[in-house]
Amino acid sequence: MTDRASITERLVIEYGLAVRPQWSADLERAVNELARESGMGSRDVEALALKNPGLLRVLAGKLTIDESHFFRHPEQFEILKRHVTPRLDAGQVVTIWSAGCSRGEEPYSIVMSLIDQCGTTALDRLTILASDLSPEAIALATAGVYHPWSGRGLSEARSVRFFRRREGGEIEVSEDIRSRVRFLALSTQEHVRSIPPGSIDAIFFRNVAIYLKSAAFLVLLEQLTLTLRDDGLLFMAPSDPRPPGDLFEASDPESAAVYRKHKRAVIARRRVSQDPSIENVAACEREEAACRAGSQRRQARPDESSRGSAAHTDTESLTPARRDAHDQSGLVNELARAVLRDPDDLIARFNYAQALSRCGARRRALFHANQIIARRRSYVDERRQDDGGWPAPNDV
Ligand SMILES: C[S@@+](CC[C@H](N)C(=O)[O-])C[C@H]1O[C@@H](n2cnc3c(N)ncnc32)[C@H](O)[C@@H]1O
Repeated sequence: MTDRASITERLVIEYGLAVRPQWSADLERAVNELARESGMGSRDVEALALKNPGLLRVLAGKLTIDESHFFRHPEQFEILKRHVTPRLDAGQVVTIWSAGCSRGEEPYSIVMSLIDQCGTTALDRLTILASDLSPEAIALATAGVYHPWSGRGLSEARSVRFFRRREGGEIEVSEDIRSRVRFLALSTQEHVRSIPPGSIDAIFFRNVAIYLKSAAFLVLLEQLTLTLRDDGLLFMAPSDPRPPGDLFEASDPESAAVYRKHKRAVIARRRVSQDPSIENVAACEREEAACRAGSQRRQARPDESSRGSAAHTDTESLTPARRDAHDQSGLVNELARAVLRDPDDLIARFNYAQALSRCGARRRALFHANQIIARRRSYVDERRQDDGGWPAPNDV
């Protein structure tokens, strides 16, 4: 396999990037650009990118477009305000994540809209995480200086309050706003691994899906679901693909492309993150039944002291077939966790693919089977290089 083919494979595996029709030309341009910037030859850049994850990420960043502007899809910021203001007013902490934040217009718009709504004191309880694959985009985001065209969605009042106009006409975000955002040059796939389950109130994941293979998009959405609170919201762009209905349901109005975490996804998270035992599965079953019966408020879960016996009785009342199904879903969740913990654990991934296939989730099973093949292939290539090339048959 040529270095360029290996780079493509790594970009697909690590970042889920979709190989578009103009991919070869784009990759060539990105490699040449990096060669010019670093003073290296393009072949050296390719060889180094395969060994150095930081350089591979820079290359990936050059294959995506960082177009954004302040208050893009403005109606979504109104929905965000309605969602988080009650929590902030009640003195609770709120965490919002801008995943694929590009040059920072999106997370800064989030901070500005919440200052407008709640004032600056509420912001002490607010954490804004912002990450992007492209280290170049993150460097620009941290600097906070923009061409006036990025500010085309700003009202006069916000321009005056939150920006300073520089001599050349560029606009600069005030230090107070900049200090509120924690920027990281990480892909969403990398960042999601370090975020505790159930800790995020809202995720902005807008105009990123277009760069991803559809299978990678689906796997990422499963992981994003785990990081959201039970009532958490996912903000996508109206032109993005709609997330699957078993993970998210559209919130009002449907055209706004804002999605609420599905109740059943909530239950799945509880199974995964708290307690994969059969008792817990039975408790989840009761909740699911309550949801299906259309109860307005989901049943509060039994407290620790009463849970053992009540859950035990429920488990016993299940038919053997249902109990099998519950065991199976507990197993799937456990394996999913193992794959999330270590994406290179091929045995866990193999078992996960098999379990998914048994549950009828064939598309996802196929995705993981392909991941195993791709990862195994790159492992074999690495070993070949480590061994100084495997002996040719004549050498033996
Ligand atoms: C078109 S911009 C969208 C910026 C902003 N979210 C918005 O809607 O205005 C897309 C950004 O997604 C980033 N991106 C693409 N794939 C990514 C991935 N796997 N992880 C993190 N960022 C990614 C690109 O680097 C680019 O900056």
